[in-house]
Amino acid sequence: MNPTNPANSPHPAAPVATQDPALNPFPWYERMRATDPVAYDPRRDVYSAFRYADVQRALSEHATFSSAYGGAGDGADHPFGASLIASDPPRHRQLRNLVTQAFTPRAVARLEPRITQIVAELLDRVSPTGAMDMVDDLAYPLPVIVIAEMLGIPPEDRAQFKQWSDAVVSGAAAAQDGAGFTPGEAHMQMAMYFMRELEQRRREPRDDLITGLLAAEVDGQKLSEIELLGFCMLLLVAGNETTTNLISNAILCFDEHPEVYERLRAEPELLPSAIEEALRYRSPVQSMFRTAAVDTVLGERAIPAGATVLAYIGSANRDEAQFPGADHFDIARTPNRHVAFGHGIHFCLGAPLARLEARVALDALLGRLRDIRRVPDVPLRPLRSFIVFGVRNLPVTFRPG
Ligand code: HEM
Repeated sequence: MNPTNPANSPHPAAPVATQDPALNPFPWYERMRATDPVAYDPRRDVYSAFRYADVQRALSEHATFSSAYGGAGDGADHPFGASLIASDPPRHRQLRNLVTQAFTPRAVARLEPRITQIVAELLDRVSPTGAMDMVDDLAYPLPVIVIAEMLGIPPEDRAQFKQWSDAVVSGAAAAQDGAGFTPGEAHMQMAMYFMRELEQRRREPRDDLITGLLAAEVDGQKLSEIELLGFCMLLLVAGNETTTNLISNAILCFDEHPEVYERLRAEPELLPSAIEEALRYRSPVQSMFRTAAVDTVLGERAIPAGATVLAYIGSANRDEAQFPGADHFDIARTPNRHVAFGHGIHFCLGAPLARLEARVALDALLGRLRDIRRVPDVPLRPLRSFIVFGVRNLPVTFRPG
């Protein structure tokens, strides 16, 4: 008997709906890697890369594949366009230097007691009931409370933050899909919110990231208002949707492989590598954009300067050429050089924080709750985004541990 086969488990897991590409894009990725690894879509005028080696190149060769928002240079009047994630060297290094201090593994480790406390409070609310929604009750509130406290904004405003970041990551689908407004409206409301916060910090400096950004200088120059807004909005959105999906996607992986729970209880030291495997297997960020800065060739495809390139991280992380048994969820996988946090100079600034939050949250779930099972008759609803990957709700039942 193969113990990793859920069909052989004493607790057969409810399989994730396999037909819906928004929940399971992996068969499509596999076809594309085999048949059209750098595909051109004339309708959207986008080149999509699916193989590990090509995705890694597109993410990291910044002289060839620019991160500038909406194409080289024309995004600087938009807060996200003026932000770290949308800038190229040399500006990128200057901006990144301003915030690296707050996100080093050592700085982030100091947050562990507070993160543990937040997780305990969130679980105290639900643990006597034997049921919870993994997204609403834990995976969403945890990262948003943490980043709000770091920025120095009231975590109580989190319902509002969720609407904004949902709209930003869901794109045009957001307005019809519950967010209530378009990405443009969300950007505008977020910008106004942070303008008020910045103004408030100018009058009354505090010990928080917003005050730190206001004081920061690059070559003797302060950040412009639009750069300040870009930083705040990027940190709120990046710190929001992604870690939520890491935690809920990890639970989905465990639910499909229930023997993992027992193994992690017996070998808790495997939790960090189980988190890396969840990052690889169900990557919270499935794709990232670049713009070809020059005429180039990716795979065997010629790409003209100015073209939009979409690097499919979620596909790279299932590439058999890099990961033997790529469709097998293996919590002890080594090596596991996934690109879930990107690659090269834009490698995720928040990776140490996301890993810490996921470890504390999953450790508390494993320690406190027994027999965590997804409620099988509630269909999973995917996020409507091709960038972030996860589910809107994840109801589970459990026995208090
Ligand atoms: C599991 C959770 C997360 C995932 C999967 C993730 C994924 C990524 C990826 C793929 C990139 C690279 C983007 C690119 O190459 O264009 C990135 C960049 C970034 N992430 Fe994350 N992220 C996560 C959590 C966070 C958190 C918690 C924060 C902050 C609070 C954060 C802040 C950032 C920032 C600021 C960048 C831009 C870095 C740069 O351009 O130099 N991320 N992230």
